[in-house]
Amino acid sequence: MEQMGTLDELYARCKACDKCALGATKTNCVFGVGNPEADLMFVGEAPGEQEDLSGTPFVGRAGQLFDRFLYAVGIDRSEVYIANILKCRPPKNRDPLPEEEDACLDYLREQVKIIKPRLIVCLGRISAMRLISPDFRITRDHGKWFDKGAFSMCAVYHPSYLLRSPSKKEDMLVDMKAIKARYDEIKTK
Ligand code: URA
Repeated sequence: MEQMGTLDELYARCKACDKCALGATKTNCVFGVGNPEADLMFVGEAPGEQEDLSGTPFVGRAGQLFDRFLYAVGIDRSEVYIANILKCRPPKNRDPLPEEEDACLDYLREQVKIIKPRLIVCLGRISAMRLISPDFRITRDHGKWFDKGAFSMCAVYHPSYLLRSPSKKEDMLVDMKAIKARYDEIKTK
């Protein structure tokens, strides 16, 4: 990994990345958005069509649903940081390939080193399996906290999954309220 710089320097490297084939098919590098000093960071899977077109994570239908949960629990999108494991869109929104995740993960690691969030929340199973544990089971383990030393991690259902399975929205609200409570707690320390 190269020396840690600023988020802008990292973005410039990420934009020019050709470590996997997705760099050549992307419209925009979807690097991440939000507060560069956020205590709370959300990490999704990979950009979809709207994200690829806009260069911003979670702006399509799933992103709009996610925004409603943030609003419902009183978290301002601009005070957190939102990124994905992959910075370039996989064709037809297929799941990321392990080699694409391997190629891209150093960018996320560097983002975390620069931003230094205290809480990292995985959006969905793919992010949780990659960042928390390979045997993470989202239906069993969502909302549980895992201490990783410098930060704590948990995972919630992916908003795209909630669009397909609206009955899980109640669980999502419970988890998001718990995340907000933990976030308020660390802000007072
Ligand atoms: N799904 C994701 O995982 N990330 C996005 O940015 C959009 C949809």
